[in-house]
Amino acid sequence: MALDPATTSDTFARYIEELRTLWKDSNDANLPFKVKEAMERMLASTSPDDPWMAEIIRDADPSRELYRDPDYGFVQMGHVHPEGHGNTPHDHGPCWVVYGAYTGLTEIPLYERADDARNADRADLRVKEVHRLGPGVVYPYLTGQIHSTQVAEPPAVVFRFLSADLTRILRRRYNLETGEVSLIEPLA
Ligand SMILES: [Fe+2]
Repeated sequence: MALDPATTSDTFARYIEELRTLWKDSNDANLPFKVKEAMERMLASTSPDDPWMAEIIRDADPSRELYRDPDYGFVQMGHVHPEGHGNTPHDHGPCWVVYGAYTGLTEIPLYERADDARNADRADLRVKEVHRLGPGVVYPYLTGQIHSTQVAEPPAVVFRFLSADLTRILRRRYNLETGEVSLIEPLA
């Protein structure tokens, strides 16, 4: 179920309003960093007892679309990840995302290519750095940045802002052991 910012005046609604104001200048190269700051403010000003946050924590839904903007197409997801949750290295194609934690600890390694990147089907990746997303920590992941996620301390309540609907774009997933690169095709 989506949250309806139009009918509330809570911290989530204020956050969405802030995003919509930012999006009026969608060519701003600093937009991912401005969204990061807006998400940091939202996380810091929200109590676990605020009804919208209490609902997310209570439902413990692993993946939920909280908001989809009718004009600008950005999407705000909410996740409650249990112990052991993780995914393999991937990118988000031409889109960028912003990940922020409310509870728990999620580790996000960033990868760089150790090869010359000439072969589209294979990639030799090495870990460049690891972001540790504890409560209130937010990072943007820019176009083409290869990363993966792993819950280190559950339950991890994580907010994932998507600059566009990721299911509609071509993305890539990377196998660390074999070096194989596979395509994640857009939904029809
Ligand atoms: Fe991702």
